[in-house]
Amino acid sequence: MRTKIVAGNWKMNNDSLATSALLQELKRMNQISKARMIVAPAYTQLAQAVNLLKDSSIEVAAQNMNAEVSGAFTGEVSASMIKGVGVSIVIIGHSERRSLYSETDKVLTEKVALALHENMEVIFCFGEELSHRKSGQHFEVVSHQLKTALFDLDASLWKKIILAYEPVWAIGTGETASPKQAQEIHAHIRSLIHQKFGESVSSSLSILYGGSVKPNNAKEIFSQPDVDGGLIGGASLNANEFMAIVNAI
Ligand code: PGA
Repeated sequence: MRTKIVAGNWKMNNDSLATSALLQELKRMNQISKARMIVAPAYTQLAQAVNLLKDSSIEVAAQNMNAEVSGAFTGEVSASMIKGVGVSIVIIGHSERRSLYSETDKVLTEKVALALHENMEVIFCFGEELSHRKSGQHFEVVSHQLKTALFDLDASLWKKIILAYEPVWAIGTGETASPKQAQEIHAHIRSLIHQKFGESVSSSLSILYGGSVKPNNAKEIFSQPDVDGGLIGGASLNANEFMAIVNAI
């Protein structure tokens, strides 16, 4: 059975006071959830989150990392620094990193390789823009993103990978892919992985959907056979909304 996962990408939100308040609330509300629950605070809040959640099943991820091991990269944070504060999950390839910080397929490939080398788990994000969707190129774009970053990996490393399909036009816009659109592309993604890496990888791979998932649409999206959970932005900043999404699994 595939693992169900709901991850909250906090982006550049929540200082230490807000982190503490939100995590205390989530801990209090999180009884027995059927999904792995992950939160991704800013770098500066990672150690605090790990500490606050040490007696909880809620896991902590970083939102990014540098592709280099160390060196003269002012303002950057390395994989081993993230691991050093007790975090071994990292989001790589979020569309905001791709578009606002010009992260290319090449640099993302390097980041994935380094994270896996450090034995970290990777939540790899990808997805088409509105123009691709409108011109019917979305299957092609998504295939290209996956092939470039992940298809040279050894099949044994896939147990450390979680995919997050996030159509750019649905992120933070309030517009979400319909459950049918999500299922169609998730099935396509799984079949690509199946062709390349075989049944045992494709059938155990968790593929999350992200883009304006809210309490009122989560259940329908999560009920699609190839959707294994979600990567949640805006709604992960509110404990009630995030828990309602987690409980929609
Ligand atoms: P959203 O963000 O839920 O606010 O659309 C999703 C994401 O950026 O991962």
